[in-house]
Amino acid sequence: MQTLTLNNGVHLPALGLGVFQTPPDETRAAVAAALDVGYRHVDTAAAYGNEREVGEAIRNSGVPRGELFIETKVWISDYGYDETLHAFDKSSGKLGVDQLDLFILHQPLPSDFGKTLDAYRALEALLADGKVRAIGVSNFMVDHLRALLDVATVVPAVNQLEIHLYFQQREVQAFDSEHGILNQAWSPIGGITFYRDSGHTSALEDPVIGEISRAHGKSPAQVLLRWGLQQGRSVIPKSTKPERIAQNLDVFDFELTADELVAIDKLETGKRGGPEPESITLAKFGTPIPEA
Ligand SMILES: NC(=O)c1ccc[n+]([C@@H]2O[C@H](COP(=O)([O-])OP(=O)(O)OC[C@H]3O[C@@H](n4cnc5c(N)ncnc54)[C@H](OP(=O)(O)O)[C@@H]3O)[C@@H](O)[C@H]2O)c1
Repeated sequence: MQTLTLNNGVHLPALGLGVFQTPPDETRAAVAAALDVGYRHVDTAAAYGNEREVGEAIRNSGVPRGELFIETKVWISDYGYDETLHAFDKSSGKLGVDQLDLFILHQPLPSDFGKTLDAYRALEALLADGKVRAIGVSNFMVDHLRALLDVATVVPAVNQLEIHLYFQQREVQAFDSEHGILNQAWSPIGGITFYRDSGHTSALEDPVIGEISRAHGKSPAQVLLRWGLQQGRSVIPKSTKPERIAQNLDVFDFELTADELVAIDKLETGKRGGPEPESITLAKFGTPIPEA
């Protein structure tokens, strides 16, 4: 498995399994299928409600803990210094591990950015205590990053963002890269799950992707993952289906040409599939996270 080196020297497997919208009762099987075919990185979140099942699958797999990279996220209802320290106890307790490999803030909370900064300070404390190996953020736009970097003592290792053929966030990606923050792509095979209002059809049926996939004898999903990897991103595709989980990992034996990369870049639409980060408020999205 190809790895990416974070800004603190920690190695992250370049491709991991995402488990957003994977129902808890299907999570054990999905994670087991992934570990079985060679995945070593799982991306979950307190808000996904399946950390416990991820932990069970990891323990049952027999894969040594040191070979695994476990990433999870603090939800906004747990922002604040003490609250976020406690969020670590909740997530690590459910996952059944003493240490997390990567712990990130799930969203900026623009309506109470002070709480977001307090939450990040707690991540810095967890890092200093050795409870987590790396810390980061998700869905942070350039202004959020600037405000964070003004006060942070640790530059985030990762910014997990919606990045796919139709919404590439190049300005944020460039800012991240300039500051040593790794871009990690969510919805890397096309944001299929969020495309309720954006008007896109499935990325997997895009004619440009179809042509490239035929040229390489690879599926559209594989082409989209390869595009992300070749541009230096971490990618975390989600599937609950063993054959797709295996297919999504089988992307290290072909290379897209420079022209093909550009052709995919040109599919940008500027339309976000997920929620607008500025619209995230506790009133609308602040579901409490249960204790471990
Ligand atoms: N930080 C955030 O705010 C945030 C937001 C969204 C997602 N994420 C993370 O990113 C991960 C991935 O994002 P995502 O789930 O939105 O999008 P995605 O991985 O781009 O796409 C997942 C969808 O594609 C289908 N699929 C997977 N592999 C396929 C293949 N080879 N061929 C055809 N269809 C395939 C899946 O269905 P089946 O399961 O039925 O195969 C599912 O409907 C999440 O699981 C989560 O870990 C983070």
